[in-house]
Amino acid sequence: MGSVEFEGLWDPEPGWLNTASYGLPPRPAWEALQAALSDWRVGATSWEPWDESTIRAREAFARLVGADAGDVFVGSTVSAALAPIATALADGSKVLTDDVEFTSNVFPWKVHEDRGVEVVAVPGSELVAAIQPGIDLVAVSAVQSSTGVVLDLSAVIAASKKIGALVVIDASQALGWLPLTVDGIDALVAHTYKWMMSPRGATLGYLSPRLQERCRPSAAGWYAGADVHGSYYGTRMELAPGARKFDQSPAWFSFVGAAPALELIEQIGVETIHRHNLELANEFRAGLNLPPSNSAIVSTSLPGAQEAFEAAGIRAAVRDGKLRASFHIYTTLADVHEALTALKPLT
Ligand SMILES: Cc1ncc(COP(=O)(O)O)c(C=O)c1O
Repeated sequence: MGSVEFEGLWDPEPGWLNTASYGLPPRPAWEALQAALSDWRVGATSWEPWDESTIRAREAFARLVGADAGDVFVGSTVSAALAPIATALADGSKVLTDDVEFTSNVFPWKVHEDRGVEVVAVPGSELVAAIQPGIDLVAVSAVQSSTGVVLDLSAVIAASKKIGALVVIDASQALGWLPLTVDGIDALVAHTYKWMMSPRGATLGYLSPRLQERCRPSAAGWYAGADVHGSYYGTRMELAPGARKFDQSPAWFSFVGAAPALELIEQIGVETIHRHNLELANEFRAGLNLPPSNSAIVSTSLPGAQEAFEAAGIRAAVRDGKLRASFHIYTTLADVHEALTALKPLT
């Protein structure tokens, strides 16, 4: 299937180059959410139909990353999803990360410093070489939020395997455009509101069976019960098997939007989205005399770029003093050319 068949499923105002901040909903997600909001407004339904979306989102996510749905949990944010893993680390453990890592994958480890957990941060280009005996866990993004750098995941997995370190991947800037599976990974979490084009508040995660055994489901509530509807009251606790015991009770409307968005990504195909996004990102790079790259996020120092974009009505971001432009399935060649025209006087 080509991306052309799916054109018209989004309604972006021209010039949205900021999916790395948040993605735009495809029509099926938008319509499902509006329908749920209408029902909510007048009390037309009980909540269980909304929760069906959580189940669909879990299953679509599992298929997307090549996992068993029984090893996938739902939550609200990346940092909260990582917290139970951090709690499972032994006192004095060493966690390795990238020195520009987004803090939702840094602070969950760092809050354990008082019991000797140490977070070591190195430049991304040195990360694989730094995976040496003494490191217990590597926590890193598949695609860096501020720079767009794509992780050499197979090298990280190979180096970690050699020393027995756990691999924890934040795929929030990757899933939805970068082909990725959980093979060789111990935990992978992703917030869906960027490249998976969902409302904020729907996070999904994979936990390997060996890590599930080590972690305490510290956020367990009624939704983590083996029988969800039989777990509302009282002190008897029977948690769900597998990763579902790590579920946080879902933000219904976020998942109502997430399920159709994830299913649409599957329908279009990540490979197709990947090709489209790189084509546009590299067209943009060529216009700035930058060599082609493998990322849907372009980060570059160009003094005055922010002002030029603002004047032209182009919405991108500035991260770490650099312009960050991102390109997704609904971005068009016209968007790219408009952006390049706005930057022309600066290049
Ligand atoms: C790599 C990455 N992870 C996570 C998040 C969001 O984190 P959280 O879900 O904890 O709010 C972002 C937001 O920019 C991000 O870029």
